[in-house]
Amino acid sequence: MATKLWEKNFAPTAEIERFTVGRDRELDVYLAQGDVIGSMAHITMLESIGLLTADELQALLTELRVILADIRAGHFEIEDGVEDVHSQVELILTRRLGDIGKKIHSGRSRNDQVLLDLKLWTRRQLIEVVGLVKDLFEELQRQSERYKDVLMPGYTHLQVAMPSSFGLWFGAYAESLTDDMLFLQAAYRMVNRNPLGSAAGYGSSFPLDRQMTTDLLGFDSMAYNVVYAQMGRGKMERNVAFALASVAGTVAKLAFDACLFNSQNFAFVKLPNECTTGSSIMPHKKNPDVFELTRAKCNKLQALPQQVTLIMNNLPSGYFRDLQIIKEVFLPAFDELKDCLRMCAYIISKMKVNEHILDDPRYDLMFSVEEVNRLAASGVPFRDAYKKVGLDIEAGTFRPVKEVHHTHSGSIGNLCNDRIAVLMDSLLEGFAFEKVEAAERKLIEGTTVA
Ligand code: ARG
Repeated sequence: MATKLWEKNFAPTAEIERFTVGRDRELDVYLAQGDVIGSMAHITMLESIGLLTADELQALLTELRVILADIRAGHFEIEDGVEDVHSQVELILTRRLGDIGKKIHSGRSRNDQVLLDLKLWTRRQLIEVVGLVKDLFEELQRQSERYKDVLMPGYTHLQVAMPSSFGLWFGAYAESLTDDMLFLQAAYRMVNRNPLGSAAGYGSSFPLDRQMTTDLLGFDSMAYNVVYAQMGRGKMERNVAFALASVAGTVAKLAFDACLFNSQNFAFVKLPNECTTGSSIMPHKKNPDVFELTRAKCNKLQALPQQVTLIMNNLPSGYFRDLQIIKEVFLPAFDELKDCLRMCAYIISKMKVNEHILDDPRYDLMFSVEEVNRLAASGVPFRDAYKKVGLDIEAGTFRPVKEVHHTHSGSIGNLCNDRIAVLMDSLLEGFAFEKVEAAERKLIEGTTVA
């Protein structure tokens, strides 16, 4: 059995160990790549301030690269008796390099190590989420343009209301994603600040070069105040969770619309057979399970900010083991959202719309406002025109003219998809992912090391 990093002359009982390690052996595997990359930056800095020799640094970096390759190949696990990923990586180095392995922890604590690992991991995940949101955005805009001339009923109170269009419907969800992207960007910027060097939460007496690790890891800046850096644990997860929840809210609403509009009673859209599931008893069924599961998963994701908040609520400043539990809800959330985004983009791309839905007379009355406006435009006061059309409807003499002339910005005839795309592009440029990619690549490939 491996000893603990902190073990001296006593050890906790097996039960205490089981309870305190909790699910870390499983969940810390998510953090393994970040742990290794973070250690590469930390030891490069330690060498620069004389706490490691150049040879020791080279030996450690070489071994860390081997560990990173193993993690990427799926050959990494946290052994029984090892508490967490931080202990596991140090243990492997010590087994392979002897005492040199024990030197990597100078000027560091597992508290800033896990803070850093979480930030590196979350940063990578946000890069992926942003890419998938962009893919879904583009798919929605494509469908919006494709069906921009096809009218559909618009509802208020789920009562037939006014003409809408499939161009508006798809395009609305694309624009919704631009606002979600703002939240993702705010979250990303908060994530991209370096907590390394805060150690246990109060800094170190070693002359740590925190700017160096900030640059090596491609962070925008450091989280300067060491007490605040530690206070970022939980706060970072909560704010990122709000951004994920914002995306999830858009996708859940889209999924509900899609389920509703795919029902025979609406029949506005149709999913291809291969995107539906069947029933064990009713031979005719073609169910929109993908959208139902997406709706449920995305509704569940909207609970994440509250879950994180409640775990860390009312903790004073400084580290507490409570924070470990956040990983249980936070880490798996990304795979779930990414899965939903991928499925949604795929199925939206396959969706066909009913181009003849307005032939059905049950939608005739949605053209009433068009008629009122036509009369008003010809000089009849609006209120009189409204009353006349209302009385015609009651008398059964209203005859709809099934065409619309909406020209203002954002309306059926002027979707502004191009301007919405510009909005999205400018947001995407604001992330500047290239800087992070270049820094990580340099560190991993060793081109920065003397
Ligand atoms: N597993 C711990 C966590 O996620 C790592 C940090 C441990 N630090 C400590 N002081 N016990 O928070």
